[in-house]
Amino acid sequence: MTFSLSQLIKSRQSEQYALHQKYINPKLTRTLGVIGFDKIWVRGEGAYLWDIEGNRYLDLLAAYSAFNLGRGHPVVKQAMQELLTLDRPNLVKMDVPLLAGLLAEGLVKRMPPGLEAVFFANSGAEAVETAVKFARAATRRPRMLYWDHAFHGLTLGALSLNGAAAFRDGFGPLMPGFDMLPVDDLEALERELRKGDVAGFIVEPIQGKGVHVPKDDYLPEAQRLCRKYGTLFICDEVQVGMGRSGRFLTSEHWRLEPDIVTLAKSLGGGYVPVSAAITRRSIHDKTFSSLKRCQVHSTTFGQNEMGMAAGLATLYVMDEEHIVERAAATGEKLIRGLTALKERYEMISDVRGKGLIIGIEFQAPRALGLKAAWTVGEAAENGMFAQLVVMSLMRDHHILVQVGGPGVNIIKLLPPLIIGDEEVDMIVSAFDKVMAEAAHIKGKVWGMSAELIKHAIAP
Ligand SMILES: Cc1ncc(COP(=O)(O)O)c(C=O)c1O
Repeated sequence: MTFSLSQLIKSRQSEQYALHQKYINPKLTRTLGVIGFDKIWVRGEGAYLWDIEGNRYLDLLAAYSAFNLGRGHPVVKQAMQELLTLDRPNLVKMDVPLLAGLLAEGLVKRMPPGLEAVFFANSGAEAVETAVKFARAATRRPRMLYWDHAFHGLTLGALSLNGAAAFRDGFGPLMPGFDMLPVDDLEALERELRKGDVAGFIVEPIQGKGVHVPKDDYLPEAQRLCRKYGTLFICDEVQVGMGRSGRFLTSEHWRLEPDIVTLAKSLGGGYVPVSAAITRRSIHDKTFSSLKRCQVHSTTFGQNEMGMAAGLATLYVMDEEHIVERAAATGEKLIRGLTALKERYEMISDVRGKGLIIGIEFQAPRALGLKAAWTVGEAAENGMFAQLVVMSLMRDHHILVQVGGPGVNIIKLLPPLIIGDEEVDMIVSAFDKVMAEAAHIKGKVWGMSAELIKHAIAP
């Protein structure tokens, strides 16, 4: 008997939802049905997905930014295939593998001055955990600060830096002394820093949840204050790094020089989970402080050959295909197109972002009937209208997007950075049609709200 993956997929494909219902997460399975995302995906390439019926969909989730290069980029795929044929000695552990050294060199070249020591892990949350440990070891201080609405991952340490009750509730007590700050508030930051017990302040240079772009002077000033009080300034670039905002690092928009940068998601080229925390040598040395402590922080699959090869191929493609510059140019066009819609539809209150991280925020309509429908929806669940837009884009336009955080009326777009004019036109025209429909209470958009409300109040 031989093992055939394609045979296995073919023979069991139709059981996908039943298997998840039984063995994995029935609540998610049910939710996908309600919002019309219960497809059987059979192929992914570039910015597109195909379902079992042969329909093509534009994927603006991009696995929350893991597919910046699109799916199945030929160069990364070739590197993966080549690696398998090489039978390299993977994970010897008592070893310093070449590919990890090369990827570290490639990353350091792209960092702001002074960041020259790399730690590789597997997920974004793990890179954040690393940053917290580095900050504590380097400063010998216990506390961490983070922003309201922040998202840095869902492991317990990272969850203690999460600014949304929706994620935190039920898992406490979380880390003591990890305290939340109001967004864009320098006085509140300085008040805490002055206490002299803060190891690190972690911030997403553009906040993923809600797509909040900090006030222009906030980040440079926050960095200055951190230096003044001996606190490490940490930029979590897990989602917005790797070219997403039209710079390799989003912190470059403000010429920041953080003490630690975290990366993940697209670093693995869409094939392998890989993450990194990149810091100053002096900070790294405080954790790995003696020969005896040379592995005091580590993870079994860190530096694995598959991940390192994917990272190297990804950096190569980013240079060859000018991915960062393309993201900046395409993002500008897309933001311009969506902003023009804001002039025409009163329910769009804001379009914001940089490069290809874009948020579209909605507000209550003025017309009485529509306003009543909005109010009923919001009473059942905050952010209901944004969910209706997500469902409409999926059902009528075959476009995958997400609500930009728990309980917000914001849609977040994270397209693969390889999209071009064709996709920009598709996105703007689809939003145009959905917003035109949403202006009519008897239209298809509001027609879905009863089912959603039922789901929102279900256990
Ligand atoms: C800014 C940021 N940090 C950390 C994480 C956690 O990454 P992971 O899901 O790979 O643990 C995420 C995930 O979305 C993120 O957006």
